[in-house]
Amino acid sequence: MKIIILGGTGFIGRHICEKLVRAGHEVTVPTRKLENAREIQMLPRLQPVLCNVHDAAQLAQAVAGHEVLINLVAILHGSEEEFERVHVKLPQRIVAACKAGGVKRIVQMSSLGAAMDAPSQYLRSKGRGEEVFAASGLDVNILRPSVVFGEGDKLLNVFAQLQQTFPFVPLAGSEAQFQPVWVEDVAQAAVQLALCDHYKNNSASRSIYAGEQPKIFEIAGKKVLSLRQLFELAGQCVGAQRPIIHLPDGLARMQAWAMEKMPGPTLMSRDNLDSMKSANVASGKLPGLAELGIDAAGIEAIAPTYLKPKSKMDQFRKSASR
Ligand SMILES: NC(=O)c1ccc[n+]([C@@H]2O[C@H](COP(=O)([O-])OP(=O)(O)OC[C@H]3O[C@@H](n4cnc5c(N)ncnc54)[C@H](OP(=O)(O)O)[C@@H]3O)[C@@H](O)[C@H]2O)c1
Repeated sequence: MKIIILGGTGFIGRHICEKLVRAGHEVTVPTRKLENAREIQMLPRLQPVLCNVHDAAQLAQAVAGHEVLINLVAILHGSEEEFERVHVKLPQRIVAACKAGGVKRIVQMSSLGAAMDAPSQYLRSKGRGEEVFAASGLDVNILRPSVVFGEGDKLLNVFAQLQQTFPFVPLAGSEAQFQPVWVEDVAQAAVQLALCDHYKNNSASRSIYAGEQPKIFEIAGKKVLSLRQLFELAGQCVGAQRPIIHLPDGLARMQAWAMEKMPGPTLMSRDNLDSMKSANVASGKLPGLAELGIDAAGIEAIAPTYLKPKSKMDQFRKSASR
């Protein structure tokens, strides 16, 4: 099968690419910079292509001739206009390109909590994006993951680094609830929905692939954990457990505002705080990993495989560079 993956160079995308090429499929990955595809470009049957996906003509050219499109492009921080451009206008362009290019199926990576009336711009724009796909008339599969963990994640790794660097860490939203899910499980779910003709014919739960349109899946792990528990788990894994300074709302917003203004990648924004106002936990009203036949991995078993205490050599290098 010929599959195009928008955002295929990212954290979740790399795992999806690997699974698809291993299963013998041809994968195209448009990217804004070819060097962003360095971790996947050696995979067999995978073609990175330079493309501005926000340009209708370039997108249509990249999409034509593929049978399935997987969309993973998203931003976590930005202005209202930027969220609209990436999460709503891009889906409109994708639908137009898929119709013109003969793509028969779309897999959209959304987010748990995406809804028109959600508390943050990120989640509201993700909800509007879902509506665009739902109204397309195409075969649409929407995945709504909770926070995703795994090698290279931006949550546990950051919590681990903060605790390896500072004697204490100010943390906002420490009691916010999540149902973390392993990146390999998210990727497996996306692959099964992308290849649902195959899974429809070969799986015990075949009806799940032929549900009403759009098919929406809540992709969550088995356990609900607070942000504080995730922070503590990261600290345990790297052998550097630091105390948390719980920030009250006002201070948390000031901290997030300051982080938005700092140069470099944004770690936390006021919109992220708004997202945490609703629990990032599966409602249980929609199918999830279990219905797809995937046994969700536990975070306590996986996190120590990629979060390690600093070795004596790391510590020596650090003190030698001072
Ligand atoms: N990671 C999580 O915990 C999590 C949780 C819930 C939902 N999700 C959803 O899962 C999807 C994938 O997440 P991820 O963590 O793998 O994301 P990621 O690592 O940030 O990757 C996203 C990819 O999208 C492309 N991209 C980013 N901004 C773009 C822009 N403004 N215009 C065009 N392309 C852009 C980038 O590709 P190039 O740089 O190559 O162009 C990037 O590699 C997203 O829809 C996200 O909302 C993720």
